[in-house]
Amino acid sequence: MSNKTDISGGVANSGSGEDRAAFGFRDVAVAEKQGLVNQVFDTVATRYDMMNDAMSGGLHRAWKDAMVAWLAPPRHPRALWRALDVAGGTADVAFRIADKVGANGEVIVADINTDMLTVGAERDAKRFKPRTPCHFVTANAEALPLPDNSVAAYTIAFGIRNVTRRRQALAEARRVLQRGGRFMCLEFSQVDLPIVREFYDVYSFNVIPWLGQQIAGDGEPYRYLVESIRTFPNPGRFAAEMEREGFENVSVRRLTGGVVAIHSGFKL
Ligand SMILES: C[S@@+](CC[C@H](N)C(=O)[O-])C[C@H]1O[C@@H](n2cnc3c(N)ncnc32)[C@H](O)[C@@H]1O
Repeated sequence: MSNKTDISGGVANSGSGEDRAAFGFRDVAVAEKQGLVNQVFDTVATRYDMMNDAMSGGLHRAWKDAMVAWLAPPRHPRALWRALDVAGGTADVAFRIADKVGANGEVIVADINTDMLTVGAERDAKRFKPRTPCHFVTANAEALPLPDNSVAAYTIAFGIRNVTRRRQALAEARRVLQRGGRFMCLEFSQVDLPIVREFYDVYSFNVIPWLGQQIAGDGEPYRYLVESIRTFPNPGRFAAEMEREGFENVSVRRLTGGVVAIHSGFKL
């Protein structure tokens, strides 16, 4: 079963008092950022999956597999085991989780962009006899339309850097998690080796926008994606942000020489 509900959370105030946000390398008003991010994903939605493969040479699949393997969803949960994949887009991560859980599993895919969710829901309809349902919900990571303590796992892949008030999103993640529940974030990170970093920079700032132009017909959204990676905190700083919001046993795994990092933390 698959359904798609519009219960967008709107914009919540983090109470941080900050009125500016980074949109790639641009400094924009907080109130402006989400609209700009939405435009990016409106533009790329139908080509998003194809571009992911082209940009990463298919590596994004292995990174997502690694996050779900580390999460280790239960094969045969005795009671309902619910996962929430936020900024879930076209549902790549949700399907991986759903495929691992047997009966008694459920995955909610939440994303602010209905175009991305529509692609995900269409893919879901073509899945072969799924045992674990995926539900599609339009929602802002900063104001999730879910009750407190309602999910066993919260995942977010390549999503958190697009969120305007990261602190608010982390607080929401912790609120909806059950005690003992796990938060996992897969995100682009910082490459260690200077020589690899140089190659990576040339590739990111030149080849990726060019691929965007060729495949999606517009290079600009991909310039934003590359810039937003550079403005995201390094693994130590993001781990500290998680701890500040109350996550415990925080740990990090870096993959592909630091191109991406997976953060894990628990609500205990
Ligand atoms: C790079 S895509 C990642 C999609 C998917 N998780 C994946 O790994 O393929 C980023 C997603 O974040 C979503 N997004 C951006 N801001 C959001 C917010 N405030 N709340 C929820 N989703 C958001 C976008 O609509 C987009 O689908």
